[in-house]
Amino acid sequence: MTREDDGPQKPWGGRFQEPTDAFVEAFTASVPFDRRLYAQDIAGSIAHARMLARVGVLSRDEMERIVAGLEAIRREIEAGEFPWSVALEDVHMNIEARLVERIGDVGKKLHTGRSRNDQVATDLRLWLREEIDGLQGELRRLLEGLLDLAEREAETIMPGFTHLQVAQPVTFGHHLLAWFEMLDRDRRRLQEVRRRVNVLPLGAAALAGTSYPIDREFVAAQLGFEAVAENSLDAVSDRDFAIEFLSAASLLMMHLSRIAEELVLWTSAQFDFVRLPDRFCTGSSIMPQKKNPDVPELVRGKSGRVFGHLLGLLTLMKSQPLAYNKDNQEDKEPLFDTVDTLQGSLRAFADMLPALEPNRERMRAAARSGYSTATDLADYLVRKGVPFRDAHEIVGRAVRLGIETGRELAEIPLDELQALSEHIGEDVYAVLTLEGSVSARDHRGGTAPRQVRAAVARARRRLAEAAEASR
Ligand code: ARG
Repeated sequence: MTREDDGPQKPWGGRFQEPTDAFVEAFTASVPFDRRLYAQDIAGSIAHARMLARVGVLSRDEMERIVAGLEAIRREIEAGEFPWSVALEDVHMNIEARLVERIGDVGKKLHTGRSRNDQVATDLRLWLREEIDGLQGELRRLLEGLLDLAEREAETIMPGFTHLQVAQPVTFGHHLLAWFEMLDRDRRRLQEVRRRVNVLPLGAAALAGTSYPIDREFVAAQLGFEAVAENSLDAVSDRDFAIEFLSAASLLMMHLSRIAEELVLWTSAQFDFVRLPDRFCTGSSIMPQKKNPDVPELVRGKSGRVFGHLLGLLTLMKSQPLAYNKDNQEDKEPLFDTVDTLQGSLRAFADMLPALEPNRERMRAAARSGYSTATDLADYLVRKGVPFRDAHEIVGRAVRLGIETGRELAEIPLDELQALSEHIGEDVYAVLTLEGSVSARDHRGGTAPRQVRAAVARARRRLAEAAEASR
């Protein structure tokens, strides 16, 4: 804040008889955080000025002086030389006051036919649209990294879990593709949210529209908005687009937290399924042997603040009467923090996942123990004509025999298995192997290595088509 806060003229000062209380001034100001919208505020103002000239409200010369002034202010802000003032409340009034300072009275004409209410809604939508595009870039990098990893690990065998108990063998590639699907839905969700963010509020003015002959389609085209808001009261007041973004962000963080949790488990000595390179971990100040999975843990923890912001904004919006209320100034910090949190979390994961080092022997050993091919044995019996419920019972007894004698199913000799069912033959050992088990699940969506490779190819096409469509 380089401008002396000894009271610049408030743009709305006309009807007031005493200066704002100093505490109230600071309490109601948003400029400490909404400065972040300066580029969108200036872009919106330039489009508005051009439109005013086009419809004859401003002369060409006036418009050009305003545009040049706004561009100079943008450079001033980017050089860190802008005199931000809390007394001027928000980013909008700071920039407008500076414009008048720089170009004189003609600067006062910029605000014709608009209000801060439609201005701030426009700025926020422009800003969020750009941020969504930035997030999509990181998310894409993460998704591509997952596909490369899944392809590489298409044949790696690990235990699949239910109730965190070993259930059936799966391929690590298949597990990674489950992560991919979760996050790819998040990618598509964000893209759908973007469409509803990308609607122009400007022209709604304070709440009822304006008596000037404005051209909203022209402004929309200048700013890249796909649609113009249909109702002025709605346009200035609702923040559902931000809430929708926060809910897509929450789902994304929820997914990242699930992946994070698995990484935390898997990097423990008890699992030892994967190793994280040292550069993604930190040590303990007291226990010299420790190498902690801080990055996944932190992402898991950060999901909490994003869920909190979602609930915060829902509560902010709940019961607000039409149209604009100052409550809405509180929409920005949760939104900013969510974008920053997502940006950091996605970047960390996109950097970290390709560097995962799977411990294939450990994964395989864990899949071997725990009778993970019991279902395969039951299916084998069904193929020999045994009803599934009977097969389930027979295999249950085989597992109990294994537990009592400390052997895996494949280690039980044929005569002992045949004592449980006459339908068991020498060929049973082929289905009791891990490879036999995973490659038998050979359909779209199944864990067979062949299917993992096919799914990777389909997913790559999906990503390429999405990139093409957003061009
Ligand atoms: N700083 C305000 C916000 O963020 C801008 C709109 C204020 N409008 C008003 N009439 N007070 O919502």
